[in-house]
Amino acid sequence: MNDKFYISTPIYYVNDKPHIGHAYTTILADVLSRFHRNRNEETFFLTGLDEHGQKVEQAASARDVNPQQHCDEMAPRFTKLWEELHISNNDFIRTTESRHKKVVQEILQKVWDAGDIYEAEYEGLYSVSEERFVTEKEVESGDYRDIQTLKEKNYFFKMSKYQQKLIDHIESNPDFIRPEHRKNEILGFLKNPLNDLCISRPKSRMSWGIDLPFDDNYVTYVWFDALINYVTAIGYGADSESFKKWWPANMHLIGKDILTTHAVYWPTMLMSLGIDLPKTIFAHGWWLMKDSKMSKSLGNVVNPMDLISDYGVDPVRYYLMREMVLGQDANFTIDSFIKRYNADLANDLGNLLSRVSNLIVKNFEGKTPDPGTFTSQESELIEKANQFETLISEKIDEMKIHDAIEETLQFVRSVNRYLEETAPWKLVKEDKKSAARVLYSAAETLRISAIILEPIMPNRMEDLLASLGTKNKTLIWGELEIGSTITKGAPLFPRIQV
Ligand code: ME8
Ligand code: MG
Repeated sequence: MNDKFYISTPIYYVNDKPHIGHAYTTILADVLSRFHRNRNEETFFLTGLDEHGQKVEQAASARDVNPQQHCDEMAPRFTKLWEELHISNNDFIRTTESRHKKVVQEILQKVWDAGDIYEAEYEGLYSVSEERFVTEKEVESGDYRDIQTLKEKNYFFKMSKYQQKLIDHIESNPDFIRPEHRKNEILGFLKNPLNDLCISRPKSRMSWGIDLPFDDNYVTYVWFDALINYVTAIGYGADSESFKKWWPANMHLIGKDILTTHAVYWPTMLMSLGIDLPKTIFAHGWWLMKDSKMSKSLGNVVNPMDLISDYGVDPVRYYLMREMVLGQDANFTIDSFIKRYNADLANDLGNLLSRVSNLIVKNFEGKTPDPGTFTSQESELIEKANQFETLISEKIDEMKIHDAIEETLQFVRSVNRYLEETAPWKLVKEDKKSAARVLYSAAETLRISAIILEPIMPNRMEDLLASLGTKNKTLIWGELEIGSTITKGAPLFPRIQV
């Protein structure tokens, strides 16, 4: 097991208003961070904003403000959303910060000194929407907008020099690109000769970027700039102890739209610098709306702020984590949101809590009763509970969050069945000792479920533990304190009426 865990999200374009897609990656990184922290791994969770490039420059000029002011005014749309969503990031990096510009220049100089950057005339098709040169085939696909033909002198990074080394690395490190089908996609891409990477923009065309240290008529390409954020934030060139501690990153979490930049550009840049490669680049699928990608340009986005204000933060986090199978695409619909909420949260989990707390308050003066000796009726629950720590840990490492959730919900459902079978509401009259055992077991199940689901729903699961009167987060059956104060509060997940 690792003793440290460094995870990053993409740094999102500051220009765009955040939608569910952005919220998803950030929540996923948050959930993983919380699981790793719970495993006592020292965790560094980084997110931030990508603030240079032509789109920002154009948007600023359309608003008649300078680009920096534009960025400063747009950035809070993200930072506020992350606060609302209870994102526990350790740092927030913006590429216009001086700490970052310094590192980008230092790295450019190093790569230049190593002889891996050269100057050449280039003619090609440029997509402003993607901020990169595209091939004719890509233009034909129709996926790229704002295409211009450009012919200009530029600086190039010798990416081709590292092609074979990259292939070897991918092949000998099966966890480097995950999931497997994304790895194969990149290996397929690398079967063709790799072009060198154009890393500059002449200021005459675009000046909102970081100056090349060896030619100040040019700024650097937005992707070359952006990728470097992952080493800036942990102290590259500024704090070698911190850098040594956190690098290599354990996981760069991204969407599949930006796989090539992360799995080809970034590793070859690091090879030129002589720095270790990140351990894992994990690309998740897309949130779709009626089978097409949710994106600003298609105008089919869901605003996470609206969802939060209608249904609450934790249910939104829950839905996103439960509904997407990592590696595949998922469809977002309000219908499936409401179904999921009512079935899992309101019925299975919420009802269990109200049933159990009602019975304990009514029959045991609101104190968790002494269960006495457990019987064969509880053995399945106990066995499952004591296996959870290992099981969930494995699911998290396999990036099967939806499975981890489903395992927990099945546990909850099995307790609901156990209550139907044992009928503690009858037992309290006939055999109070047995009723005590059953209600203790149900409350203990809730405690264990709350601990597992806490990284996903940090607020409501804290509330759940509080209503059981416990702070004990040990994942071992029987840790719930006898005599803890059970409170009957408002429903944890009130049913959504449709
Ligand atoms: O690409 N479904 O920024 P970006 C799932 N600045 N995830 C989605 C999504 C969707 N429909 N839409 C967006 C950039 N995302 C660069 C990154 S990193 C050095 C530079 C998420 O604002 C997903 O994580 O376009 C995707 O990779 C990212 O937002 C793209 O964000
Ligand atoms: Mg994008």
